[in-house]
Amino acid sequence: MKVLVIGGGGREHALCWKLKRSPSVSEVVCAPGNPGIAKEARCVAVNAEDIKDLLQLARDEQPQLVVVGPEVPLVMGLGDRLRTEGFAVYGPDRAAAELEGSKSFSKTLMAEAGVPTAAFETHTDPDQAEACIRRFGAPVVVKASGLAAGKGVIVARTIDEAVTAARDMLSGNSFGEAGSQVVIEEFLEGEEASCLFIVSGDTILPLDSSQDHKALLDGDKGPNTGGMGAYSPAPCVTPAIAGQVLERIARPIIAALKKRGIEFIGTLYAGVMLTEDGPKTLEFNVRFGDPECQPLMSRLQSDLGEVLLAAAEKRLDGVRLDWDDRAALCVVVVSDGYPGGFEKGQPIAGLGAIEQAGAIVFHAGTAEKNGHIVNAGGRVLGITALGDDVSEARLRAYQALEKLDWPGGFYRRDIGYRAIAREEK
Ligand code: AMP
Ligand code: GLY
Repeated sequence: MKVLVIGGGGREHALCWKLKRSPSVSEVVCAPGNPGIAKEARCVAVNAEDIKDLLQLARDEQPQLVVVGPEVPLVMGLGDRLRTEGFAVYGPDRAAAELEGSKSFSKTLMAEAGVPTAAFETHTDPDQAEACIRRFGAPVVVKASGLAAGKGVIVARTIDEAVTAARDMLSGNSFGEAGSQVVIEEFLEGEEASCLFIVSGDTILPLDSSQDHKALLDGDKGPNTGGMGAYSPAPCVTPAIAGQVLERIARPIIAALKKRGIEFIGTLYAGVMLTEDGPKTLEFNVRFGDPECQPLMSRLQSDLGEVLLAAAEKRLDGVRLDWDDRAALCVVVVSDGYPGGFEKGQPIAGLGAIEQAGAIVFHAGTAEKNGHIVNAGGRVLGITALGDDVSEARLRAYQALEKLDWPGGFYRRDIGYRAIAREEK
């Protein structure tokens, strides 16, 4: 079959890479893709947020399956529009995508469904938000309710910091419309994990566990980013914990959506904090994690095209996933300066040598200029390697990374340290 993939980041490269290797898939088309994706798919220069042009592309290409990678087109209703025209789509409709698009909706639904999560209140009035923060006490977490590319969350150590953040958001200064409503949350302590599920109506198929590093600097210090690295499996997610996340978090939230008449088809991503009282939900996303998708796809052995088509056509029941027993680890290389400003167009060399060293080079924010790969975004590459355990996968990824020739690139040196500490125990 022909598959159309929407998006052009590291996650979409991993999806296209795996689809290309799926026996059921004969052709992959990607909009807009990137220079790495161009090795796996035919890239078409249509922006992933341009709903009208994407619909026209689908009409022109007539794919048997459309896979929507990022959250923005899903929240904009691309899934609904494609389904109305009869396409098989992997990715939820607009109403279900609100689980990610509105933290206030998501928290309300969690409360309704009895899904464990941090205590919270939602506010639009700055004085009431401040009063709430004072009641909760520090540390406390302030979140812009709308989409903010992973940057709309302030984990405040002091009341003053939280009040300033909430007032900035509500005045529209920090995140525009996305901050017109804030969620104020109790601070949760523990280790974080990413638990992803392929969902099709009542059928919920767990993916193997993964973990990412959101902070920019070694030791999980510095500002939050979209993700500086990830690995799978995550040793902290024992089979017992995975079972709890499925039964106490994924099933009830999908059931609560259904009660409201909303069906979910696509990836449910539960970001969970493993607390002393069990796993608690930090957030839901409605797509594969980026960069979690890179190690997950590197380990998946099943035919991805077949699985996603089965989900899109509501016949996921009975489908199972096979995984490589080895671990995979992805180190993200960013443009030095990210998540602040940086210069674009810097030439990047050594990618061939990285691949010869046995790692997979997933492209994110790259472009091609005069026959050279250059940086074109904040997160630029995801260097991914397999190994018998996370320690070995990390060793291989970092050994391969020594071949990278890009002075303007920056990456963390300690991806996987929590998992490795557990492995060494
Ligand atoms: P979110 O986008 O809601 O997952 O938040 C981004 C990051 O902020 C999470 O990955 C956590 O590291 C942190 N965070 C969010 N909510 C909380 C919380 N209630 N307690 C502690 N840390 C949190
Ligand atoms: N890696 C975090 C995310 O995809 O939201």
